[in-house]
Amino acid sequence: MNRRIIILTIVVMTMALIGLMVIQFYWIRNTSVVRENAFKRSITEMLPKVVKKIERMEKKKATEVNPNEGMLSFTRHMSYETFLTASHLDSLVRQELTVLGVDMKFEFGIYNPQRNIFLVESNPESKQDLIEKGYAARMFIGDIFTSPEYLLIYFPREKQFLLTEQWGILLISIILIIVIVYSFTYTITTIFRQKKLSEIKNDFINNMTHEFKTPISTISLACEALNDRDVNKSTEFMQSYLNIIQEENKRLAGMAEKILQTAVIEKGQLKMKREQINLHDVIADVIKNIRIQVEIKDGVIRRFFRAENPVISGDRVHLTNLVYNLLDNANKYSPKKPVITIRTENTSSGIVLTIEDHGIGISKSEQKKIFDKLYRVHTGNIHEVRGFGLGLSYVKAIVEEHKGKISLESEVNKGTTFKVFLPFNEPKE
Ligand SMILES: Nc1ncnc2c1ncn2[C@@H]1O[C@H](COP(=O)(O)OP(=O)(O)OP(=O)(O)O)[C@@H](O)[C@H]1O
Ligand SMILES: [Mg+2]
Repeated sequence: MNRRIIILTIVVMTMALIGLMVIQFYWIRNTSVVRENAFKRSITEMLPKVVKKIERMEKKKATEVNPNEGMLSFTRHMSYETFLTASHLDSLVRQELTVLGVDMKFEFGIYNPQRNIFLVESNPESKQDLIEKGYAARMFIGDIFTSPEYLLIYFPREKQFLLTEQWGILLISIILIIVIVYSFTYTITTIFRQKKLSEIKNDFINNMTHEFKTPISTISLACEALNDRDVNKSTEFMQSYLNIIQEENKRLAGMAEKILQTAVIEKGQLKMKREQINLHDVIADVIKNIRIQVEIKDGVIRRFFRAENPVISGDRVHLTNLVYNLLDNANKYSPKKPVITIRTENTSSGIVLTIEDHGIGISKSEQKKIFDKLYRVHTGNIHEVRGFGLGLSYVKAIVEEHKGKISLESEVNKGTTFKVFLPFNEPKE
């Protein structure tokens, strides 16, 4: 996919997500306002019912005390102590709240603003709150001889009560948004990873074609030469061309083997033939094979076999390839005279093999990636060194198969040191 299209998709998706979030929060806010208003209305409608009940109680008491006065309602109402206690009023209010389905702490009182006194009250400390934030309903409206009195109710936890009803929706919305954002990021990173992978694969195919082309054309040239009558006559010439063909053929086989080996590792079908191996012998063999390539470049390989016990349990072929790959890299990535140092040392549980070069080095950010399959550092065209990017991933797989460890220290333009630890025996699991 085109990079610009991907970026455009990301921008559009992000904007759509933000839009969705804004709408979601707008709706939640809206619902909370609607709920708040509904609550306020229901409480305001409930209060007159309580007031009516109180008035009825007063009337009943008044007729009890003075049966003849029942009809003369112009008089002042009776004082509250005679017919209404705070706990009685509490239960009256509670009854009505239960009908509304509101189960929440409340304070109440009957207040006369003109005289600024509470005639009945639930809690002397909440007077101020009742006056400032309480719901009110006028009492004894027909009682023209007393200054207005109000029944007040105040809910100290009203805001939290209304919010808790919203919590569920808010929480679900937040969870859903997190899920969407996570999936979105995951998708985008996957797209980028796939893109990178396809680039790497392309590089690999280009590289491979190039690598195979050289020996193939050398072989075909050698074959042409062999067909030549003059060459045919001289056994010396013939032998040298045959040697070339053999060498190039070996190279081709080696490359094919490397690619096949990686496929085997990928499938987890790597087979180990364990035996007791002298690591010093293995290293010496590899050095013998690679020495010419180093010496052509005027380089040297120095070795310091310091391990007193160089014998470990391992697979000879794979360990040989491991050492070969590390030495091959040390040589390949040393553009001038390669100076390669190999050291072995014993620890209590195994051998540490160190391979040091003074080549181009690897930057910190690349160091994490070089063990990835097919990964190659882009060096530009200055040090055009061919390779598949398979060597180190193979090395790592072999080290892990032997239950060992691999690490490196490197500085750009100074050199690189690979350190491989191999245990004497595979630890019992
Ligand atoms: N000793 C080293 N010095 C500098 N860079 C190195 C060294 N060893 C490895 N690298 C970097 O790490 C990359 C990966 O190495 P690896 O051996 O896996 O692949 P390769 O050498 O490119 O190809 P292959 O080994 O498959 O032929 C190399 O392309 C190179 O950029
Ligand atoms: Mg390599």
